[in-house]
Formats: sequence, C-alpha cells, structure tokens
Amino acid sequence: MGLLRTYFNNTRKPEGPLGRSMLSGMNREHARVSDWGMAHLRGVQASRIVELGCGGGRNVGELLQRYPNAHLVAVDYSSESLAKTARLNGPLVAQGRCELLEADVSQLPMDDATFDLATAFETVYFWPGPVRSFAEVRRVIAPGGTFLIVNESDGMNPADEKWKRIIDGLNIYTPDQLRGFLNQAGFSHIEVDHDRKAHRLCVLAR
Ligand SMILES: C[S@@+](CC[C@H](N)C(=O)[O-])C[C@H]1O[C@@H](n2cnc3c(N)ncnc32)[C@H](O)[C@@H]1O
Repeated sequence: MGLLRTYFNNTRKPEGPLGRSMLSGMNREHARVSDWGMAHLRGVQASRIVELGCGGGRNVGELLQRYPNAHLVAVDYSSESLAKTARLNGPLVAQGRCELLEADVSQLPMDDATFDLATAFETVYFWPGPVRSFAEVRRVIAPGGTFLIVNESDGMNPADEKWKRIIDGLNIYTPDQLRGFLNQAGFSHIEVDHDRKAHRLCVLAR
C-alpha cells in the first residue's frame, strides 16, 4: 500500500502517529460542514446525546456548548480517536459531562431508548450495513428522538470518485439512498437538506 493510501485509510480507522495527524486534520477540515449541519438542530431538545464516530472530538465540545445541560457519550471503534477526544475535551470529561466509549456503531453496548439525540458527522460512509447500523442507532434513541447525519459528500460529485479508489470500504451515499436505508431501519420522519452546490447533505431522522 502506498503512503497516500496508508495515510487516507486513517479516515476509516485512525491508528498510530498517522492516525493522530489525520485526527487533527479532520477536526480542522470538518469544522465548517459540521457547524452547517449542527445549525439544523435548532428546535431539537436533548439532554442525552450520543456522538457516533466522534473522531478527534471537535464536535463533542460544540454539541455540549449548544446543549449546556446535556450529558454526551462519544463513541468510536478507534482507541486513537477516543484518546484525542479525551485530550481535546479534558474538562468536559473531568466534569462527567462527556463519557468515552470504544464500540462499533453496529453493536452498541447500550440499553434501548437511552438517548434523545444521536449525531454522525462524516462517518456513516464506513458503517457496516448501513441499514444494520442505522437500526442499531434507532434502537438506542428514545421515541421522538433525533438522528442527525452530516456528510460533506453527496454521492453525486464525480470528483469524489478518487476517494473510493484510495480509501478501503468507503461508501458515499446519495440523499435518496440514505432515505431508503433510514426507512428500512425504522425511521419514519426523514428530512434531508441537500446543498447541491457544495455537494453536502444533512439528514434529520426521527
Ligand atoms: C472520517 S472520520 C470523522 C470523524 C469526526 N466525526 C469528524 O467529523 O471529524 C470517521 C470516524 O468514524 C469512526 N468509525 C468508522 N466506522 C465506525 C464504526 N463502525 N463504529 C465506530 N466508529 C466508526 C472512525 O474510527 C473515525 O474516527
């Protein structure tokens, strides 16, 4: 595997020094699309949040600022991602507002109906299924809760094809595909904001 492939495969599961470097880069590079996506949470109440595929943890702090009374569980299957999230959000972890959990989103070690809000920024591309993973998210969300998906790629940009060749297991979904998967996973109300110009999308599923 060439160095380029080795480096970019750290987007799927950050590991070691290259993974640490990738996590810092993703915290910076994903900030804009993440904030755009989070703006769609206006009006969504939440006190129990699960941030899935948290990566370097930049969005943990942002979410807890938006929801000052909430408790958040940051989930990732990469120990490197969780270590970076812990370093970046030390005070929130110390206060008990942020808990870290190493787990695969397709098998969450949590009770049914535990959360009001589940978030996934730039990560569903890699999830097993994905219907199986979305059904697992639905299981842990309480009735009436919300699942937010934010992707900076909409599956309609020919320029993104190169990433599929470089990054193993990368699937870039169109808005219609995501709608279909979420429906199959048992979500009933699905709203998609598709920014065709920027090729980015934000999904709110309930
Ligand atoms: C491209 S990074 C995005 C990280 C962060 N959400 C962001 O926006 O910068 C994808 C993250 O999802 C995690 N991830 C991918 N598949 C996962 C799975 N099945 N279960 C848990 N975490 C997963 C990876 O380890 C990685 O930290």
